[in-house]
Amino acid sequence: MNPVDMAALREEYETAGVVRADLAADPLAQFERWFDEAHEAGVFEPNAMVLSTVDAEGAPDSRVVLLKGLDSDGLVFYTNYRSAKAAQIDTAGAAALNFAWLPLHRQVRLRGTVDRVDPARSDEYFAQRPRGSQIGAWASQQSSVAVDRGAIEAAFAAADTRFDDDPIDRPPHWGGFRLRPTEVEFWQGRRNRLHDRLRYRRDEGEWVIERLQP
Ligand SMILES: Cc1cc2nc3c(=O)[nH]c(=O)nc-3n(C[C@H](O)[C@H](O)[C@H](O)COP(=O)(O)O)c2cc1C
Repeated sequence: MNPVDMAALREEYETAGVVRADLAADPLAQFERWFDEAHEAGVFEPNAMVLSTVDAEGAPDSRVVLLKGLDSDGLVFYTNYRSAKAAQIDTAGAAALNFAWLPLHRQVRLRGTVDRVDPARSDEYFAQRPRGSQIGAWASQQSSVAVDRGAIEAAFAAADTRFDDDPIDRPPHWGGFRLRPTEVEFWQGRRNRLHDRLRYRRDEGEWVIERLQP
């Protein structure tokens, strides 16, 4: 098999540009517009985003999680509160998110502070998850080392038996985080790599929008 020549992989972005006047005053309103457009365009899992964190030593880490809520305060995702990412978030109190909607030649980058959502909100979301996911949340010690796959499946089977047909409450070690953005960049690919980059940043309680060099 011939190796892929990565250096020769090249797309020209002929997409229409973004101008300051088209943007919403609030970055989360603008995010919602782009999110809807990605969804309408049929982007696979448009709510998949890369969550970047730093550990206690300042070393970066990243992984994909799913956006499960958007409100005027920020972006909500759910995970295990004992996972590596949760420890990193709890220590740093900050994180970054990245959406790459490649068929639209778009990227959105968000940086901000992160805190846990209200337990009632986590309860509400957990209650609407499929039963298998609910059992999985009880069974998995996310980010810990497992003996083997069999041990994980045995933990799932044990939890499944334990709950029988009962309603399943949210495990206390599982719930939501909300990133409240302090900086949001909307990136649109353009011809000749002269891409559009429009960045919102917080300045004395107001959002300031600036164009960045590509
Ligand atoms: C498409 C996709 C969606 C994912 N969604 C989530 C999610 O919403 N929550 C979550 O905890 N992990 C999710 N994961 C798994 C994470 O990427 C990661 O493996 C896991 O959360 C453990 O990360 P950590 O050890 O850094 O805490 C997803 C992975 C992929 C590829």
